[in-house]
Amino acid sequence: MRLKDKVAIITGAAKGIGFATAQRFAQEGAKVMIADIDPEAVNAAVDQIPGSEAYEVNVTDRVSIQAAVDQIMQRHGRIDILINNAGITQDARLVKMTEAQFDAVIDVNLKGVFNCAQLVVPHMLEAGRGSIVNASSVVGIYGNFGQTNYAASKFGVIGFTKTWARELGAKGVRVNAVCPGFIATEMVNAMPENILRDIERRSWLGRLGTPEEIANIYLFLASDEASYVNGVALEASGGISL
Ligand code: NAI
Repeated sequence: MRLKDKVAIITGAAKGIGFATAQRFAQEGAKVMIADIDPEAVNAAVDQIPGSEAYEVNVTDRVSIQAAVDQIMQRHGRIDILINNAGITQDARLVKMTEAQFDAVIDVNLKGVFNCAQLVVPHMLEAGRGSIVNASSVVGIYGNFGQTNYAASKFGVIGFTKTWARELGAKGVRVNAVCPGFIATEMVNAMPENILRDIERRSWLGRLGTPEEIANIYLFLASDEASYVNGVALEASGGISL
């Protein structure tokens, strides 16, 4: 029970890595707040995770975030963990990318993380404790063909992480990031088959990662086991960059 009685908000928790994280956190005793834009998927997720709660949140809409935060504070009186996991892709090469594609990805992946952190952190500061884990990516370290918008957002998330780690650390709030390689979720399964096979070949473990493997990293960084870890961007990619 590594998260016993901790109240954890996980954005984008209705599917993929976020859902696996919600399941893992619940197994470890956390009260899991599933915050996601997809109402049907949120309800389906809550049905599968004992003790979890549904919040229809669009991370680009501060009113929806504030409503969820207020309700969680009213019900539980605390927020111990924020997992800024929601993210999207809209890929195109630089010359083909539309402004709408650029803006959509920056809005969710970058501004969404800012929005959630800014509305949750005051409660953590008041309590003098908290742990935030942000979803970056290996693409946020090395860049990637066809992902101008996504790479910029994920580089930016590492910038947030290192900045907030300095601003909040002395006040009891740790901030870290996870940089997954390529993980078998809907996001990655949408990629062409030949590119997926090439990624498997380039990873030194010879395969894609699983959502559960990333959930375990969120768990470690969120938990007190990582009590002296602050401001890191932890890569979990099977060594794809070696
Ligand atoms: P996914 O597409 O399987 O799930 C994303 C979830 O976020 C969905 O439930 C979706 O409804 C929700 N979501 C999307 N926009 C939202 C919004 N505006 N507000 C609230 N919720 C929203 O994605 P996956 O693969 O689980 O990715 C999770 C995070 O991990 C993302 O930030 C992604 O960029 C990052 N990541 C994923 C990798 C992968 O290989 N799958 C690799 C590196 C990073």
